[in-house]
Amino acid sequence: MQAGATTQGLSEKSVVPSPASSTPTAQRIGVPCEVFPGEKRVATVPEVVEKLIKLGFSVAVESGAGDAANCSDDTYRAAGATVADSAAALWAGSDIVFKVRPPSVDEVALMREGQILIGFIWPAQNPELMQQLAAKKVTVLAIDSLPRMLSRAQKMDALTSQAGVAGYRAVIEAANAFGRFFNGQITAAGKVPPAKVFIAGAGVAGLAAIGTAAGLGAIVRANDTRAEVADQVVSLGGEFVKVDFEEEGSGGGGYAKVMSEGFQQAQREMYAKQAREVDIIITTALIPGKPAPKLITAEMVKSMKPGSVIVDMAAEQGGNCELTEPGQAVVKHGVTIVGYTDLVSRLSKQSSTLYATNLFRLTEELCKTKDGIVDVNMQDDAIRGLTVIKNGEVTWPPPALKVAAAPPAAAKPSAAPAAKKGHGQASAPMSSGKLAIMFAGVAVLFWLVGSSAPKEFLSHFTVFVLACFVGYMVVWNVKPALHTPLMSVTNAISSIIAIGALVQISPIADALDRPNSLITWIAGAAIVLTAINMFGGFAVTQRMLAMFRK
Ligand code: NAI
Repeated sequence: MQAGATTQGLSEKSVVPSPASSTPTAQRIGVPCEVFPGEKRVATVPEVVEKLIKLGFSVAVESGAGDAANCSDDTYRAAGATVADSAAALWAGSDIVFKVRPPSVDEVALMREGQILIGFIWPAQNPELMQQLAAKKVTVLAIDSLPRMLSRAQKMDALTSQAGVAGYRAVIEAANAFGRFFNGQITAAGKVPPAKVFIAGAGVAGLAAIGTAAGLGAIVRANDTRAEVADQVVSLGGEFVKVDFEEEGSGGGGYAKVMSEGFQQAQREMYAKQAREVDIIITTALIPGKPAPKLITAEMVKSMKPGSVIVDMAAEQGGNCELTEPGQAVVKHGVTIVGYTDLVSRLSKQSSTLYATNLFRLTEELCKTKDGIVDVNMQDDAIRGLTVIKNGEVTWPPPALKVAAAPPAAAKPSAAPAAKKGHGQASAPMSSGKLAIMFAGVAVLFWLVGSSAPKEFLSHFTVFVLACFVGYMVVWNVKPALHTPLMSVTNAISSIIAIGALVQISPIADALDRPNSLITWIAGAAIVLTAINMFGGFAVTQRMLAMFRK
């Protein structure tokens, strides 16, 4: 834990003095200007500042930090933040620093012992930076190291929110470079065919690109080595184009694996055919920790129609296209090849807002007491995963997670006996022998109860046992990732108690000559309350399930 913000160097007018007290005071979150050339994002936005203040924190922003994302100093002030005149003042006065890009050498020099840094760090790619930060005895939470397979981590998943923005922007860049409409039109001036867009790689960015291109009216096709994404492609309005070669491309955890030479050859043939047919190619293929697979050869580019466009999102990792020049848009063989590496930054207001919300959700997890003091709880799987340095001690890489929310791979027909049940898997069906023993046990129990208990009890008992059985069968087969929506729908179903209230309020109550004046009112109130529970429960469930339908 870290407490007691210093306020030195913050502009006199704007500083909120911390009360002098022996008890820990609320911490100050500082947001500096991003120093990486061309970076337009900012780590928090005024709307989120208000929420952070409600959590008990004070917030300071370096003057001009949000300018490129359309967030002026005044809007931060209006939201309750203070504005620091310089980076030095901001860093010195902050207990927690929110950043987007990894800190520069100069920024690390401004850090002090005990400070907490939250932002993109990429510890595997930046070993030197990790050493420098550890030497400063700070705590570092790398948002890129969040265990994404935890369903509760989705709200903090900045990789997903930022890749989604990039996928959207890739289509906008393609539309900008493409000299035609995306949608087909029949006008007095002639017939315009719809643009054909091919998306290579249907991960987060690819799916966002598919949805955006389909929304603009293009005919969208997509390919990925992971067959499991085919349904998602179709649900977003695309057509999944298969490679004519049987090989499973999932390397676990939702990521791809390097494919065999046979598959790659078949894939090249399919991509060559698509290159001849389509107008726009957007490539997003990536295997974490590996150079980007070269999917679009120079020959394929040559075969494309003049005026076609390729947006290579993997430009930073070497590019999926042989002719990509990272950071540039170039025209080769009549095809515009866009290799921008700052697609997220080109939509800075949107990406900053989503990123700020991700960090706010993380802050909520770090400060469950809502008293403006964070607790980096290493027992919490999500927090443990993204804490890469704790008080100067390097804690990256984290131990492997025991819980996996990703659905288990479908069992092959020839698979060996069902695997042992783990947290992340639905249970294997019960063997017929065990089922027979269970039914025999239940029958004996019924006989014992039936021979001694009154008749009415037996009927209630039967309903109870059946309810337990059905509940067990339903809940046990639901994957852990879907337990939260399951709970909310169960909550909605529990509103069945409304039937009791309906009975009380109905003419049957009068017919039975029950005292109905007060009871009718209570029953009416009960119906209203349970209706809120019922409709609210189903609505929330729908929203949660929508999060799984990418
Ligand atoms: P992701 O890991 O969610 O998706 C990558 C997809 O590529 C996966 O579905 C994977 O199965 C697929 N893939 C891997 N090898 C393949 C192959 N040989 N053929 C077909 N599909 C293959 O990654 P995400 O977040 O969607 O990012 C995609 C790319 O966009 C990455 O290279 C990332 O660095 C880049 N990116 C670029 C930005 C920019 O400004 N240019 C901004 C954000 C992301």
